[in-house]
Amino acid sequence: MMLLETWVATSVGLIVFTTYLTHNRTGLPRVGKGGPIGFILTALKSITSFEDLLEEGLGKYGDKAFVVPTMAGSLVIIGIDNVEKVKNSDDSIINQPLSVVESLQLTHTMNSRQQALPYQAVVTRTDLTRAIGSFIPEVLDETRLSMSEAFAPKAGEKSATVPLFHTMTHLIARISNRAMLGTTLCRNETFLHDVIRFAETVVLYAQLLAWFPKMLRSPIYFLASSKYGGPREPTKVLIPHLKGLIAEKGQGLESSKTIADFLLNHAPPEEIANPELFAMRVLNLNFGSIHTSSIFGSHALFHLASLSEGELDGIRHEIVEALDSEGGYNKASLSKMRKLDSTLREVGRFYGLGPIGLNRVLVKPAVLEDGTIVPPGYNIAIPLKGLHFDPSVYPEPEKFDCFRFSKLRETEESDVKHGFTTIERNFVPFGLGRHACPGRFFASMELKIMLAHMLLNYDISLPDGAKEAPKGNEVQRGRDAGC
Ligand code: HEM
Repeated sequence: MMLLETWVATSVGLIVFTTYLTHNRTGLPRVGKGGPIGFILTALKSITSFEDLLEEGLGKYGDKAFVVPTMAGSLVIIGIDNVEKVKNSDDSIINQPLSVVESLQLTHTMNSRQQALPYQAVVTRTDLTRAIGSFIPEVLDETRLSMSEAFAPKAGEKSATVPLFHTMTHLIARISNRAMLGTTLCRNETFLHDVIRFAETVVLYAQLLAWFPKMLRSPIYFLASSKYGGPREPTKVLIPHLKGLIAEKGQGLESSKTIADFLLNHAPPEEIANPELFAMRVLNLNFGSIHTSSIFGSHALFHLASLSEGELDGIRHEIVEALDSEGGYNKASLSKMRKLDSTLREVGRFYGLGPIGLNRVLVKPAVLEDGTIVPPGYNIAIPLKGLHFDPSVYPEPEKFDCFRFSKLRETEESDVKHGFTTIERNFVPFGLGRHACPGRFFASMELKIMLAHMLLNYDISLPDGAKEAPKGNEVQRGRDAGC
């Protein structure tokens, strides 16, 4: 009991101390209550009401920089006129990798190698993107199988009601891991459960760890994640699998081509010699792909389920035509599914992954467009509303329109301009610049196959009484949809 009390007291002391150290010294105005205690209270409030704090700042300070206290310390929100500056940055002043290190506490939740030698990003950008076409049959096969299991009605019933976000996360984890690791592990329910839990808890643990001195973060993560989340459980089956891959490669055997094989081709000798290190690359990519795609897929499906039968038939018709004219699922037919593509792009515009984006860390003082100087060491981000809801770019921005971009593509010559994976100043859910998401082409292929298969083989509807898609992050909080 004494031990527990000492631990709690030390933790509270450390938290207060760390908070005092991290309180706003930028000289910029900040939202929330004043003083160090106010900082703590506002940071706690940011866990559940970040959007309200952001709105408060935007209402008070407009495009001027201001600070929002968060669990990871002071976050400086900068105006949208700085987008080009952030996009063109080469990490020497406005740095992207460090913001990932900080927001995920990467050194402690994974390891420092992920940032020092980020070959998982290189593999995604090169080998994986080039091989997208060859993954299509496998993604389709796993989609068919996993959906027939997930959406099977109970005996004697004609339909099944499923919690959408939870189901989508499971489907994405399984289908993505078919490409990542092959048929055995992607159907191993224990592995899927553990890898999803790892991905879900990294962000939560990272927020907690940021409040502790650096030297305590790794032991705290080790202790806490040994009980819940963490890499230990998923690596129990992952490491033996990777050892098998490494052994096959050592014998010159040509194994089936999975993303893990691509990673292996780029892995340095010390990671090949230590599969525990190598396994973290697979976990890192799982982290990057599971929740991002599940959030997009869930929003898309909620909105598709809100359409009229006539509109849904229009989408189905376009999918069937694309499949007939191109001989089934392939890159050409997927690119002809413009209405699905448009729905996904509208999800990116309307929701993205949250209300802010282009998160970076300043490694030197940065001069903003209006002359404001932000000191080094601070996290910065851009509020997406000003970009994604600009009425001069997106007429009626508050309306979610599945066909917003497919209608534009009918009238314009350029085929890629309004496509889901095309990033630009006013469309940044995948980031911008040299670190823009390299996995977006895989995500687009996977989500389109899943949605197309679902629309052609199932009738979908919202649960009884619901007329419209849930708002914002209600989706992640787990509202149900009938299917
Ligand atoms: C709808 C799905 C996805 C969304 C919305 C998304 C979003 C993002 C964002 C916002 C970034 C940071 C960009 C920046 O700061 O400029 C990023 C980076 C990254 N994403 Fe994605 N992502 C998705 C799917 C995926 C998938 C499926 C993979 C892998 C298969 C992946 C792999 C990566 C990697 C490796 C990076 C780091 C790139 C670098 O540091 O150079 N993502 N993603």
